[in-house]
Amino acid sequence: MAGEPVNVNEFQELAREALPKMYYDYYAGGAEDQYTLKDNVEAFKRITIRPRILVDVSRIDMSTTVLGYNISAPIMIAPTGLHKLAHPEGEAATARAAAASKTIMILSTGSSCTMEEVASSCNTVRFFQLYVYKRRDLAAALVHRAEKNGYKALVLTVDVPRLGRREADIKNKMIAPRSKNLEGLLSIEVDSNSGSNLEAFCKATMDASLCWKDVEWLRSITNMPILIKGILTREDAIKAAEIGVAGIIVSNHGARQLDYSPATITVLEEVVHAVGGKIPVLFDGGVRRGTDVFKALALGAEAVLIGRPVVFGLAAKGEHGVKRVIQMLKDELELAMALSGCPSVKDITRSHVRTERERLL
Ligand code: FNR
Repeated sequence: MAGEPVNVNEFQELAREALPKMYYDYYAGGAEDQYTLKDNVEAFKRITIRPRILVDVSRIDMSTTVLGYNISAPIMIAPTGLHKLAHPEGEAATARAAAASKTIMILSTGSSCTMEEVASSCNTVRFFQLYVYKRRDLAAALVHRAEKNGYKALVLTVDVPRLGRREADIKNKMIAPRSKNLEGLLSIEVDSNSGSNLEAFCKATMDASLCWKDVEWLRSITNMPILIKGILTREDAIKAAEIGVAGIIVSNHGARQLDYSPATITVLEEVVHAVGGKIPVLFDGGVRRGTDVFKALALGAEAVLIGRPVVFGLAAKGEHGVKRVIQMLKDELELAMALSGCPSVKDITRSHVRTERERLL
């Protein structure tokens, strides 16, 4: 690509050029027909913004808080696995970029730097994303290590009882290195001759029996607040609010799990209404523009997480690339706020957007 990238999508092109096909496909791909993968992005385009005029927007304040932690803008780093496939410095570089951007990073269980390495590489607020394995002692050990290493919240991912069928990984016979966090804790040989070794590993290790009562168990072993990641319906949102978790994340795992699950932006409002302000609702899936962040906030999200854009930035330009990706989204959000008459995040309201359904009425 000629010249410096001017938007987040151009970082995806740079990542495609920089990475071996197997790794690019791992990051970029979704499940099966990838219908939801496309729709996560496309659904944002069906929402328009209703700008208000003659508002003093000479100063724009994007800062906000999540679980009481101040961040410079409502844009956080989603948990994504194996950053060393994108760049040799892996999650340590991502964490430094998060710190420089004054935002929160959620570290994946499946990271290629240990949670201790990440903790010592920066002093940003970090949350830890947890996968629960059949061996519950592993989950407990990870939780205790996270707490000891200063992670401020636990993000329980609930949409992976089994791994979604990612056909590119199967075709490529994707060889994913094991998570560094599990080193010395879990040694298991999996037969992956038929395809992706990640799929085989997940089948052998993930606890598909995980259910609501296990959230209670998790609460009994940690003082960290728990966020549930992977909620897409009002029914589950109500349950989560009832059992009193600290928050939820509307997410379809970046369309890597159940294909034909809804684009996340189309169900955000349903979830927000269901929880009725009892707990904060965060959001991820398909955020590629500052206007997407604006739309998610207007529909009730407290902040958004970004997944692929971060790894594409990392693959293209390391720590600097991640910083640039976050800065681009922040710059675009700031402009969208100015052009819509919203000087601060709390000024962005439901009346600032029109959904597709409303346009058709
Ligand atoms: C993910 N995601 C994810 N989620 C999680 O809870 N634990 C994980 O280890 C991972 N790993 C992971 C790897 C890769 C390569 C991707 C792309 C995604 C899902 C992630 O947290 C988030 O939900 C989506 O990435 C958000 O969608 P976008 O921003 O990628 O469109």
